[in-house]
Amino acid sequence: MAKLFINEENMIGRIEPEVYGHFSEHLGRCIYEGIYVGENSDIPNTNGMRNDVVEALKELKVPVLRWPGGCFADEYHWMDGIGDKSCRKKMVNTHWGGVVEDNSFGTHEYMELCRQIGCKTYINGNLGSGTVQEMSEWVEYMTFNGVSPMADLRAANGHKEPWTVDFFGIGNENWGCGGNMTPEYYGNEYRRYQTYVRNYDKKKQIKKVCCGANIDDYYWTEGVLNTAFANTEDFVHGFMDYLSLHYYVHPEGWKIKGSATDFNDAVWYKTLYKALYMDTLVTQHGAIMDKYDPDKKIGMCVDEWGSWYTCEPGTNPGFLYQQNTLRDALIAGITLNVFNKHCDRVKIAALAQMVNVLQAVILTEGDKMVKTPTYHVMHMYRYHQGASLIESAVTGAGETGAGKWTVPKITESVSKDGEGIITITLNNLSIETAEGMEIKLADNGYKVIEAKVVTNTDIHAHNTFEAPEQITEQEFTGYTEHEDHISVKLPASSVTVLRVKK
Ligand code: AHR
Repeated sequence: MAKLFINEENMIGRIEPEVYGHFSEHLGRCIYEGIYVGENSDIPNTNGMRNDVVEALKELKVPVLRWPGGCFADEYHWMDGIGDKSCRKKMVNTHWGGVVEDNSFGTHEYMELCRQIGCKTYINGNLGSGTVQEMSEWVEYMTFNGVSPMADLRAANGHKEPWTVDFFGIGNENWGCGGNMTPEYYGNEYRRYQTYVRNYDKKKQIKKVCCGANIDDYYWTEGVLNTAFANTEDFVHGFMDYLSLHYYVHPEGWKIKGSATDFNDAVWYKTLYKALYMDTLVTQHGAIMDKYDPDKKIGMCVDEWGSWYTCEPGTNPGFLYQQNTLRDALIAGITLNVFNKHCDRVKIAALAQMVNVLQAVILTEGDKMVKTPTYHVMHMYRYHQGASLIESAVTGAGETGAGKWTVPKITESVSKDGEGIITITLNNLSIETAEGMEIKLADNGYKVIEAKVVTNTDIHAHNTFEAPEQITEQEFTGYTEHEDHISVKLPASSVTVLRVKK
C-alpha cells in the first residue's frame, strides 16, 4: 500500500497564482473566433468577446494572460492595432498559416479581454523586428498618465485612463523565430531594450521578462545571464524580474509529433515520461540561475508549456488545432505538480494556448464551445493559487510503464491556504491499475470537504461538440476517513483533488 506523508507544519513557500497562467497568440482560431468574434457577431458577446468563453475562463480563475505571441510577437507592430478598425492595416501572418491579420484585435481589445476575465496583463514586446522606440512608445501608450504624445493618442482612441501592464516580455524565442540571435547578442539587446521599458507609475512596477531557453539549451541560459549581468555591480531591482523557459511535449519528437487521439499504451507512457522531464529542466536551468541570482530574486517564467501533436486531420496545419484527451489531463496534472514543487523558482507559467490551439482548455466551433480535460484539471488545481506549498512525499507506489519509458506511478503536490484548507492533487499514471494509498498528516482529525476526479476507462476519451461531457470533473467517492489517516483508491489513469480541513 502506498503512503502519502504530509507535514502541514512545514510551509515551503508560496505558489504564485500566476503559475496557473495562460497564453493567447494571434495564431489559428485562438484570438479570432475562439475569443474575439466582434461586436456584430451573432454569437453572444460583450464588446466583441464571446460570453461563453469569458464565463468559462472566469470559472477557471485565470490569473494572467500572455499576448500577442509567441512568434507573432516579434512581427507585431502595435500601432497597426489601434484606432478606427476600418482603417487598421492588414498584414500577413507569416508564421501561422499565411492568413490575413486584420488587426481588429489590438491593445484596447486585449485590455478589455483581461478586464472581463479579471486577470493580470502580460504583453510580449517585439525585439526581433521592432525598434527600441516602438517598444518604448507602446509602454508609454499603455501606462503613462499625463500629457505625452502616446498618452494623448490613447485618449484620442477612446481610453483616457492608463492601463496596468503587470508583465512585459522583451522579445520571444529570440534564439529562433524572434531573430535567430546568439545568447550574447540577445543579452546585449536585452540590456538596451529593457532600459526603455519605463515605469511611469512607481507604484505599479512593470515586471520584465527576459527571453530564456528552449528545452535544455543550457548554453543559452548561461550566455544570456552572463552577458546581461556583465559589469553590473549588483542586481539592480527592475532590470530583470523573470527568465523564461519554453518546453512542449511531442510524443514522437519535433518532426513527427504524433496523433492527439490515436496512440497506444507505450506512447501514453512515453508522453508522460516526456512531461515529467519538466522537472529536470526547471532544476537544471534553475541551477544556472542560482549562480547569477543566489537569492532567487529572478523568477522562472515557463510561459509556453503543454502538448504539441500533429494537427487534427483536415485542419490548416498552420493553425495548430488539436484534440485533448485524458492523456492531456495527466500532462497538465504532472506539470502543475512539478511547478508547485518548484515554487521557490517557478513564479509564472502559461499553458499554450488558451483556446483552439495546442493544449487548449477550450475548443470552439461556430457558436459551440467545449471544455477539454485540461480545463477540468486546471479548474481542480485552482485552489493551489496563492496557497503555501507544504512538505509531502509518496512512498511505496513504485513505477509503471516499460523500459525507457518507466515513470513513477503517482505524482503529487500539497498546499495549505489561508483558511487552513489543505489541497492534495494526485495523479495515477498507470493505465493498468488503481492505487490504494494511505494519506497521513502530521496532525489527526482532518475531514474531506471536497473530492473530485478526472478519469475514464478509455485513455483516448475526449470531449467533442457532439459529446461534450465524456470527460469532466466527477465526484470522487473512493476514500474513507479514519481517526489518524484517510485511505483512498486512485483509479487508473486519473487526476484527483482532495481538500481536507480540521
Ligand atoms: O505556441 C506556438 C509557438 O511555439 C509560439 O508562437 C512560439 O513561441 C513557440 O515556438
